[in-house]
Amino acid sequence: MCGIIGYLGPHQASPIIIEALRRLEYRGYDSAGIATLDNGTLNRRRTSGRINNLADSLVQEPIRGKIGIGHTRWATHGLPNEQNAHPHNSCSISVVHNGIIENFKQIKENLLTQGYEFSSETDTEVVPILVQSFIDRNAKPIEAVHQAMKVLQGQFALCFLFAGEDDVIIVARQGSPLVIGHDQDAMFVASDALGLAGLTDNITYLEDGDSAIISQQELIIFDVNQKPVSRSKTIVSIDSAVNPKGNYKHFMLKEIHEQPESISRALESLFQSGQLNDQTVDQICQQPINWVNLIGCGTAYYACQIASYWFEKLIKIPARAEIASEFRYRNAVIKPDDLSIFVSQSGETADTLAALRYARDCHSNNLSILNNPACSMERESQRALSIHAGFEFSVASTKAFTSQLTVLLSLGLIIGYRKGTVTHEEFSTIKSDLFELPKLVDAVIGLRDDIIKIAEFISDCPAVIFIGRGLMYPTSLEGALKLKEVTYIHAEGIAAGELKHGPIALVDKTVPTVVLAPSNDLFVKTISNLKEIRARGGPVILLTDSEGLVQAGDDTNFALTLPKINPLLTPILYTVPLQLLAYFTATKKGLDVDKPRHLAKSVTVE
Ligand code: M6R
Repeated sequence: MCGIIGYLGPHQASPIIIEALRRLEYRGYDSAGIATLDNGTLNRRRTSGRINNLADSLVQEPIRGKIGIGHTRWATHGLPNEQNAHPHNSCSISVVHNGIIENFKQIKENLLTQGYEFSSETDTEVVPILVQSFIDRNAKPIEAVHQAMKVLQGQFALCFLFAGEDDVIIVARQGSPLVIGHDQDAMFVASDALGLAGLTDNITYLEDGDSAIISQQELIIFDVNQKPVSRSKTIVSIDSAVNPKGNYKHFMLKEIHEQPESISRALESLFQSGQLNDQTVDQICQQPINWVNLIGCGTAYYACQIASYWFEKLIKIPARAEIASEFRYRNAVIKPDDLSIFVSQSGETADTLAALRYARDCHSNNLSILNNPACSMERESQRALSIHAGFEFSVASTKAFTSQLTVLLSLGLIIGYRKGTVTHEEFSTIKSDLFELPKLVDAVIGLRDDIIKIAEFISDCPAVIFIGRGLMYPTSLEGALKLKEVTYIHAEGIAAGELKHGPIALVDKTVPTVVLAPSNDLFVKTISNLKEIRARGGPVILLTDSEGLVQAGDDTNFALTLPKINPLLTPILYTVPLQLLAYFTATKKGLDVDKPRHLAKSVTVE
């Protein structure tokens, strides 16, 4: 949510900041802005819409300065227009912010009574004016920021410029991530390391409550008690992310195509050369586990739901999936012998991170399953496993989901085997089926032309229903989410058995149903639901295997024949055509697939 960049060095700041903002645009893209300092004077430019608008404006009328801050916004408070775009200024301060200032109303009222004036609808604007109020009482810039940090509630990553201070950027973070990049003659700030790809790979991760004074000569970091502290530098390899779209038109399509390799990498990390190969998993297997909690948001939550079915089957212990934003506030009962698993691509999702902190407070064993290296959840978890999907740029998650599933299924399998609930024979069969998966995913990607025909059909529909039973139910939820995110067509995933308890009322000739029905023990029941839909005039798109197709007959509008696969693995395989369906429907509608409206890749605010 919102991308932040800061630069201090020997070159003009704005071109460097614009390029870095482009790399952070996946965090939000409804408006953008930049501020620089030139001979002590603050310059600012803000535009609504994408970074390109800001870049064009700067080409027409450049702003000078070798120190600057930039921002790409995902609006929380106030419309996405120029007036609400960051940086926000007071008379001698400019600031960019990621997060939410929860007590901004009280602060604003207080500052208004002191005679300060506001010009935006944002929560952020209280920050420069609050800091200004301390400066006006003779505080030095860092003192003023420290005093403000004691007043501000909520989450923030802040990056400040002060008029007259051409060699100083001040930053502060609480809840929202912030990194500092070091180069020989320049210093950088970013809301995540990706923003610094191609600029530096020498990164200092700030911890919660930290603030810092950044100048060319030195970096002074203060901890949560505002005492100087030293934080180590990490080398983060982010160069490969600089030009990652290759020959594909969109990241989403590229990442869908990457799945055979990303799934292979996930498998290799756990079963290198056919051997079990992970210390973290070893440690987990040695612990008693009475209950498994699986927690995430959005797509990661659907991975949790699917995994809860797998864990109960393979480990024979209760497993529940929880939406992080619910779990964190409902005083869930979790015990030290529970294993709480947190699933997150970014490792920065505010609700999942808060849920992890809650589990830690309950002394529950915890494990995070993550993609983004060196993220907050990795630092805060007792144990972490990487899904090795590689950087995911598309806001609509694809390869991260199938890699999360691959790791979760492998984990359930290994734990079950070690605990004796999975036999040696079952273990070997499922493992070898898992290793077959990349080839089958590749074959499903090859169904592209058939999927395009279905996409053409549904692109004119007002709504789409996805149904499935067992493992296909949470898979249908993911299929519906993907379609909603990138096509803006209303879509619902429904447990097929629930249809006649209400949702079947939605069925008519304009609302198609995607039926997920691999030929397994629930197949016949799902096909009965398909018939009920057909009897009411609803168009049906059937996803099944060749065996299922024969049994289902030809009472469908479209049928997609997928390879026959071990039923346990069907969520991974059946997700791929749903991703492609969403993608091709969105492109048919002429939508910007990689930047769906109102969304951002990393949800670091509640
Ligand atoms: O980074 P995370 O995995 O924690 O993100 C969770 C969700 O925000 C994310 O999966 C979101 O639902 C995606 N846009 C789905 O495509």
